[in-house]
Amino acid sequence: MARKFFVGGNWKCNGTTEEVKKIVATLNEAEVPSEDVVEVVVSPPFVFLPVVKNLLRPDFQIAAQNCWVRKGGAFTGEVSAEMLLNLGIPWVILGHSERRLILNESNEFVGDKVAYALSLGLKVIACVGETLEQRESGSTVAVVAAQTKAIAERISNWSNVVVAYEPVWAIGTGKVATPAQAQEVHFELRKWLKDNVSAEVATSTRIIYGGSVNGANCKELAAQPDVDGFLVGGASLKPEFIDIIKSAT
Ligand code: G3P
Repeated sequence: MARKFFVGGNWKCNGTTEEVKKIVATLNEAEVPSEDVVEVVVSPPFVFLPVVKNLLRPDFQIAAQNCWVRKGGAFTGEVSAEMLLNLGIPWVILGHSERRLILNESNEFVGDKVAYALSLGLKVIACVGETLEQRESGSTVAVVAAQTKAIAERISNWSNVVVAYEPVWAIGTGKVATPAQAQEVHFELRKWLKDNVSAEVATSTRIIYGGSVNGANCKELAAQPDVDGFLVGGASLKPEFIDIIKSAT
């Protein structure tokens, strides 16, 4: 089956109201392939979710960059999945390496978050990826398999999950994975899903790449058979994000 190309824009902790409105204006006037060809999801910081939702073109969707692991309550500083749904936000990014490494979010904690978000009807971009040390020690596949396993053990329905492979050593560094490196890990992730979940889930689940994607390198990456799109950081704040969306094959 054909997997619809997916391009996410992770704005991370960036922007002011004025800057966000300018980004949205640029996105709104861009000519891009139809929703039948590519699914576009932009992810502003929490504080800008309402303004982006109000201004963004209807053929693009919105994701939060995180959410809490259970129903809201006495969890100071957290934003619950229920709150995202109340705002009409359909997607959430979970398990980003910056949260795994800086905030010590464990594989199990990320798995619990994915399960809870899905249980409420949110769609999830679930991030996995190895550090440079783990790659250099030859444990890349073992690391991303363990991260994926912690999710697979907690969910039964993958239809609202997009897996984002983001090698930590490529995030924000300009050192993009080569097309061969990306394809190898995406292939291994899809094989893991086939061997441990089901052939149908492996075939239908989109596996997208993130880590220094830009307008110059996206086409070659997009041409890889197991690369189903991108999760873009820095370049999603720039007009070249439109070029990345157009790399949809
Ligand atoms: O979530 C996407 C992000 O981690 C990639 O960042 O700036 O390397 O595209 P960047």
